[in-house]
Amino acid sequence: MSQESKRILGIETSCDETAVSIIKGDDKRIKVLSNAVSSQINIHKKYSGVIPEVAAREHVVNVIPVLDEAIKESGVSRDNISQYIQALAVTVGPGLVTSLMTGIETAKALSFAWDIPIIGINHIEGHIYANFIGDYIESNIEFPVVVLTVSGGHTMLVFMKDHGDYEVLGTTRDDAAGEAFDKAAQLMELGYPGGPVISEKAQEYIINHREGMWSSLALPRPMNNTPDYDFSFSGLKTSLLYQLRKDSEWRNKISYYCYEFQQAIIDVLITKTLKAVKDKNAKTLMLAGGVTANQKLRQDISDKIKKECKDINLFIPLFEFTTDNAAMIATAGYFKAKQKQFNNLKDLTFLANKKL
Ligand code: KG4
Ligand code: ZN
Repeated sequence: MSQESKRILGIETSCDETAVSIIKGDDKRIKVLSNAVSSQINIHKKYSGVIPEVAAREHVVNVIPVLDEAIKESGVSRDNISQYIQALAVTVGPGLVTSLMTGIETAKALSFAWDIPIIGINHIEGHIYANFIGDYIESNIEFPVVVLTVSGGHTMLVFMKDHGDYEVLGTTRDDAAGEAFDKAAQLMELGYPGGPVISEKAQEYIINHREGMWSSLALPRPMNNTPDYDFSFSGLKTSLLYQLRKDSEWRNKISYYCYEFQQAIIDVLITKTLKAVKDKNAKTLMLAGGVTANQKLRQDISDKIKKECKDINLFIPLFEFTTDNAAMIATAGYFKAKQKQFNNLKDLTFLANKKL
């Protein structure tokens, strides 16, 4: 396999982050030369969720400053940039159409002006390729791989036989795992996004926990023992709601409720993931998506793999590449560029419900 390195510029605008990154890839490592992200979280906090029209307007305002920042940070000279960058990679879906459009049109304009090829990337595939950032050493990644992808919009178990070859084993039947964190945080008046604040409060509980500190609460573990690889999280959120209604003191025990809710999600994710790893004889397990920023999930899954599946190689993306970013899109683009899987500039467009 060729050792030739490639620099890829990635653009991600599928939801509420405007992100541009330049990476340099070869057969041993993906080096992130720059990773600029402009988050709209503070704007969307007011509405406890992402308002598509507001997100779209923000992308238009932010995309050029973020591009400028990514180019400056990378140290790549602006004068002869088209010689430095070998391809552009851009998220084409799934996502909010009016958000996707800004990234896609920007990438197309750059591809036209710089005369370099363009590659459309599936956002979920981008999350999966966050695992390859850093010193991945191609030969160390053994297929088949099972990937647990958990974000605000998706929860999936994916069987990956090779680069670009995916079979979706199971998905959520209702809320995604990240969405469940976000909705639970809303119920507990903790703001948006829910995942980071719930995990922080849960950590407080772990640190201060004393036996019998508060009454024991049994939240369900939905679909934990079903023979498929599907998930369901909306009932869990409803159970939490009923528990809060029954307990007039819940505001004083918030860290406890956060801990129990988080643990219920983690337990189900781990049970189903290990089932898939064992059933499919996977050699590698990868985690992907914003929910994998969760420290307790990272810790529990590592412990469980060490105990039950010693031969499995576990890959967890570096913390900074778990939530939406463009380095993961550029990395997925690097592997497609290696196979010369470029798109036709005229045909490249958004696919709101793009399948893996
Ligand atoms: O992948 P991502 O940035 O965007 C989507 O593609 O959806 O994921 C965002 C989701 C949100 O639902 C957020 O609450 C969740 O990831 N999240 C977390 C944590 N950090 C972010 N969930 C649990 N624990 C965290 N530490
Ligand atoms: Zn995402």
